[in-house]
Amino acid sequence: MPALINPSILSADFANLERDLGAIATADYAHVDVMDNHFVPNLTFGTQMVERVQATSPIPLDVHLMIDDPDRWAPGYAEIGAASVTFHLEAAADPIALARRLRDIGARAGIAIKPGTAGESLYDILDEFDQILVMTVEPGFGGQGFMPETMPKLRALVAEARRRGSNAWFQVDGGISDSTISQAAEAGADTFVAGSAVYGAENIETAIAGLRERARAASLES
Ligand code: DX5
Ligand code: ZN
Repeated sequence: MPALINPSILSADFANLERDLGAIATADYAHVDVMDNHFVPNLTFGTQMVERVQATSPIPLDVHLMIDDPDRWAPGYAEIGAASVTFHLEAAADPIALARRLRDIGARAGIAIKPGTAGESLYDILDEFDQILVMTVEPGFGGQGFMPETMPKLRALVAEARRRGSNAWFQVDGGISDSTISQAAEAGADTFVAGSAVYGAENIETAIAGLRERARAASLES
C-alpha cells in the first residue's frame, strides 16, 4: 500500500479554487471538508459546491462529511461522482446501511471517529468500510496541532482490521506535516490529509512529494 497524500482544500483560496485544485494535481485525492455548523461549529459548503469541485479537480475527491444526519445527505456526494465519501460514526443513525448505499452507488465508503471516540466502537463494522478515518484533531478547523494520543487507537484499529481480513485504508486528518507524518505512518496510517502543510508551503508540489516520501520511509521502517 503506497502512502496517499490528500491535500485538504479547506486551506485553499475559495475565490481561486480552480487554480488551487490545479496546484495539487500530483497528489492522490482532493480532500473536501463539508461542515454544517451543527456537527462541528464551522460551516463550509454543500453538494452544489462539491459538484463544481468534482467537475474542476484534476484528481478524484475524498469527501469528509462533518455533518449531522449523514444518512440523509451522504449518498448525494456519491451520486455526483466523489470517489470516496466518509461520514462520522458519532452522527450516523445506521452506519452499516449507509455504507452499503455508498458502495452501491459506486463510491468508497469511509467512516470517521473523533479523538474522544473509542476505536472499539468500529471493530464489529470494519468490514463494511473501505476507509477508516482516525481524526488527529477535533474536527472543525484547519491549522490545529496533531494529537499524538490518538496513535495507540489507530495502531489497535489497524491490527484489528488486518486480523479480520479487512484491507481498508487508514486515514489520518489534522495537524499532518513534515514533523508529524512519520508517527502516523509508523502507527499504520496509509492515507494522509494535509491542509496547511500543503497550501501553506512555498512550493506545493515539493510539499506533497516531501510528505509522501517521509510517510513511505516511516512505513517501511515500521
Ligand atoms: C479539520 C478537517 C481537516 C483540515 C486539516 O476538521 O477535517 O481536513 O482541513 O487541516 P490541517 O492539515 O491544516 O490540520
Ligand atoms: Zn477533513
